[in-house]
Amino acid sequence: MDNDIQEVLFDQDSIHHAAVRLGKQITKDYAGEEPVVLSVLKGAYLWTADLLREVDLYVKLEFIKISSYHGGVSSTNSISLVTDIHSDVQGRDVIILEDIVDTGQSLLFLKKLLAERGAKSIQVATLLDKKEGRKVEIKADYIGFDVRNEFVVGYGLDYKEMYRNLPYVGILKKEVYSD
Ligand code: PRP
Ligand code: MN
Ligand code: MG
Repeated sequence: MDNDIQEVLFDQDSIHHAAVRLGKQITKDYAGEEPVVLSVLKGAYLWTADLLREVDLYVKLEFIKISSYHGGVSSTNSISLVTDIHSDVQGRDVIILEDIVDTGQSLLFLKKLLAERGAKSIQVATLLDKKEGRKVEIKADYIGFDVRNEFVVGYGLDYKEMYRNLPYVGILKKEVYSD
């Protein structure tokens, strides 16, 4: 897999430091609260594990699965809810965990869903923020790293469902996805 990577952007060590930094901040900001942590599958699986171990709060962990890329390299407008949560978010503080915010459409979809269900507050902690990719106006509250407009994989992020298990985030070589 390493051979398919053009450049490593964030290695395990720097991701760990980001998790520690954001974990401390979330612990401070939510002191005395019991937020619902909503991890967005599949991409956020590693970030969820790493970030939450740095959060010293009573949290309720939930997983939701939505899909926008449908395995390709560019986001589509149609977001689908693949697997929903079964717990009530009414009146709860919710922290959404994402691996990346790109066009912002996935996040917008989720924020609307949670607002309709009566969440008290909704904040977002993302490992990566690709601000240049935005198609809708939306911001993350906690950001690990800003990332430039390149197709990145690894540490949860996939291309055609692969590379999620790379222990770092890197730029995928163009020849891997263009023919
Ligand atoms: C990716 C990524 C984010 C979303 C960001 O998920 O994990 O959830 O896209 O893109 P956006 O800001 O343009 O909406 P994807 O839909 O590929 O599903 P996955 O997490 O299962 O890979
Ligand atoms: Mn995702
Ligand atoms: Mg994907």
